This record gives sequence, structure tokens and C-alpha cells, in this order.
Amino acid sequence: MPQRCDVVVLLSGTGGNLQAMIDSLHERASPARICAVISNRADAFGLERAARAGIATHVLDHTAYEGREAFDAALIQAIDAFQPALVVLAGFMRILTPGFVRHYHGRLLNIHPSLLPLYKGLHTHQRVLDAGGAEHGCSVHFVTEELDGGPLVVQAVVSVELHDTPATLAQKVHAREHLIYPLAIRWFAEGRLTLDEHGASLDGEPLGPSGHLIRY
Ligand code: GRF
Repeated sequence: MPQRCDVVVLLSGTGGNLQAMIDSLHERASPARICAVISNRADAFGLERAARAGIATHVLDHTAYEGREAFDAALIQAIDAFQPALVVLAGFMRILTPGFVRHYHGRLLNIHPSLLPLYKGLHTHQRVLDAGGAEHGCSVHFVTEELDGGPLVVQAVVSVELHDTPATLAQKVHAREHLIYPLAIRWFAEGRLTLDEHGASLDGEPLGPSGHLIRY
């Protein structure tokens, strides 16, 4: 088993992805260990999930800081106190400064509810339906300074059915998120997933423009 990989999770909301990570780490041995969950919102349900699992929690209220730079500097301090090998964004509803992103280059992952590069930003399920798309899904990617634009690691594809609504699509996509995010974290923790100047690689093989593609 490779060396232990400490992970800090950042979230703002319900923490469905956090729960999937916790459950997956319970089910199968992994070098990954969630050492802390940090939220910018004290009322985030994800904090409760973390506490129940015995994981350290920390709240950093962004409204208490004068601007993004000051908040991100404090956030870096809070994260680095745990000395994580990996930082994971799991519904963290803040735009991060370039300095923050650079600080964690190659060890900062995000999940987005669309098949990137399609539908960056918000309201992805509604936008897929409006466009009459036949496929939708979610993507795990390394975070770079481009919003929702970093090298892709893994994508899960779901088909859009005639009767789908934003709510049913969200449900399908969330279920896939809960499979692919723990998978990507496991790869990283095992030293199989890396980022260098050529992009993301798995087991030394370039992942290519779409990352690893899974059709469930
Ligand atoms: C997910 O849809 C994820 O793709 C997006 O934020 C949402 C977080 O959901 N980045 P949860 O709090 O993990 O349930």
C-alpha cells in the first residue's frame, strides 16, 4: 500500500459527495484519509456528515473577510494546517483566486455536473434540456485558473430521456458523481493519477481531452 494520502474537502452545502467519499473509504482499503472538512458556511449539512464520521471540521466565513484575496489567504492557512496531499472541492460555492489555485497546482480536484467542456457554470441540467442534448453527465478535473476548465480526469455519461426534468437529471448525475469522485481520489491517493505539463495521466498514460470516460 502506498504512503497515506491526507485529503482536505472544501464544501458549502449538503455534502452528498463528501458522504460518498466517506462511504467508499469505509468499504475498501485506500491510502486516502479525509483529515478535515472546511466550509465557508456554518450551516452546511456537510459539516454534520463530517462530524458524524469523526472528521475534523472548520468554518471560515467568507463574509468576515475584505475580498477574495484575504479570504483565500486565510483559507490556504486553514487547509495547510492539515498538510494535505490533496484538496478536493465538493460543492464549494466560491470562485477561487489564481494565487489559491496555483498554490495547490496538481493536487486540487473539482467535480462539475456536466460533460465538460460543455456547460461550464451553473444550471447545467436545465441548459442541457433547453439545448435538446441527448447526453449529460459529470466530470472530475484538476483545477486550473480557468473556471471549470482544468484537465479532465474522469467523466460519467448518462442519457437524457424524453421525460427527464432538471430534477430527474440532477438525481441521475448526482448518483454518478458519487461513483466517479471517490474513484478519482483513490487513483490520486494510490499515486496513479498525476498532472504534469502535458496534462493529466493515469498509470503514466495521458488521459486525453475527455479524461477516462465511463458510461453507466
Ligand atoms: C454537485 O452537483 C457538484 O457537481 C457541484 O456541487 C454539487 C455538490 O453537491 N460542484 P453535494 O453538496 O456534494 O451534494
